Amino acid sequence: MGTVAIIGAQWGDEGKGKIVDFLTEKCDYVVRFQGGCNAGHTVVVGDEKYVLHLIPSGILYKNKKCIIGNGVVLDPAALLKEIETLKDKGVEINENLYIAKNCHLIMPYHIVLEEEAEKRKKIGTTKRGIGPCYTDKIARAGIRVVDLLFPEILRSKIKANLELVNFVLENFYKTNTLDEENIFSQYMEYAEKLRKYIIDADIIINDAIDKGKNILFEGAQGTLLDIDHGTYPYVTSSNTVAGGICTGAGVSPKKINNILGVVKAYTTRVGEGPFPTELRDEVGVYLREKGGEYGATTGRPRRCGWLDLVAVKHSLRINGFTGIAITKLDVLDEFEKLKVCVGYKCGEEIFHDFPKEIEILKNCEPIYEELPGWKEKTKGIRDYDKLPKNAKEYLSFIEDFLKVKIQLISTGMKRDEIIVREFPL
Ligand code: GDP
Ligand code: IMO
Ligand code: MG
Repeated sequence: MGTVAIIGAQWGDEGKGKIVDFLTEKCDYVVRFQGGCNAGHTVVVGDEKYVLHLIPSGILYKNKKCIIGNGVVLDPAALLKEIETLKDKGVEINENLYIAKNCHLIMPYHIVLEEEAEKRKKIGTTKRGIGPCYTDKIARAGIRVVDLLFPEILRSKIKANLELVNFVLENFYKTNTLDEENIFSQYMEYAEKLRKYIIDADIIINDAIDKGKNILFEGAQGTLLDIDHGTYPYVTSSNTVAGGICTGAGVSPKKINNILGVVKAYTTRVGEGPFPTELRDEVGVYLREKGGEYGATTGRPRRCGWLDLVAVKHSLRINGFTGIAITKLDVLDEFEKLKVCVGYKCGEEIFHDFPKEIEILKNCEPIYEELPGWKEKTKGIRDYDKLPKNAKEYLSFIEDFLKVKIQLISTGMKRDEIIVREFPL
């Protein structure tokens, strides 16, 4: 046992929430280390469906400590709403939720600025203020959770930031400005409600690791949306890769024992940006409908396509996956034949590695390997031996290509619809 990172290996929505929820049973702490309420992690327990945005997906278990680490950008309004929604469903939130003092706060102007920016250059963001908040963080103009505890400091930072923001809103975007007093009083209300959760998360996490507790680091988004290693500029604004844990939770790389990559059995993407194996035909529509591929945060239809192993190999390299979890295998149950991308062709050039040049990637044609489908129901199977022969061959093909063990296979959205070949912790 020890620590395990759960990392999306594609463009997000791989089913990380389901895997985190499954593994939480064996863990003491679940820690988010980047992103914010752009994430939508779905967990289905019995007949109840939960979508977690900011709160770690371990919250559904009693007596597990859930930590929002410093690398997360936190919208207090979204967090309070999420707490209420969960409480309404009977989930206990009390001594089990912690927020790092050094998280950056999403402010109302971040959301307004992003909405305006999206009108001009479309990335297809979730419009949750994520990018502008990280921009302020890097520009050393951010407001942090700890500032909520010091009203005068909070007020002066809001004032200083609004000077520039309002100038831009009025003169560049030609839209309404924001009021300092309104924002200040609203954030003071949030401060009262959130005060009890605010702590030195790095100390708690490292103490827990030193005491031999089991810690799960819950990634949000996916490797191909990483600010450095994704399809820039069509990415999110944080380091979604395993390396993000070190800075986003304050944990040494020496202390991350296991890194589980979550790979959907096909590929999806929401928002703009290159997607070589995208299917714009009836097969893509079939995957969307069968897989329920609609955004858990924004409800937008997800773009769908075949499994892209060139992209996953890139993720494997950057993250150093010690194992992978394949999700949504059951969605492929009815296909006669399946395609898996093993290379790209761009003009006369063949690529075996994921190109950094967005212009090349946009024009890449996938080189496919065709595999036979299984045309049998895998939904809910929990025993590897019960999988159809061709499903096992599909999985072996992935393993052979990536040279990494498939430890978990998810065969449905519910907590117990999973095959455990090797426990990743
Ligand atoms: P995340 O953001 O990575 O946590 O993934 P999302 O929750 O955004 O999207 C994954 C979707 O697939 C959710 O609706 C899950 O309930 C669902 N899901 C997860 N695993 C499986 C699976 O093995 N089979 C099927 N059919 N659905 C799954
Ligand atoms: P989970 O954790 C899928 C995408 C957006 C957009 C880009 C930038 O549920 O896998 P942002 O609002 O982050 O600035 O948007 O990133 N995106 C996601 N796509 N799953 C997510 O999270 C995502 N979070 C952001 O659609 O293309
Ligand atoms: Mg999601």
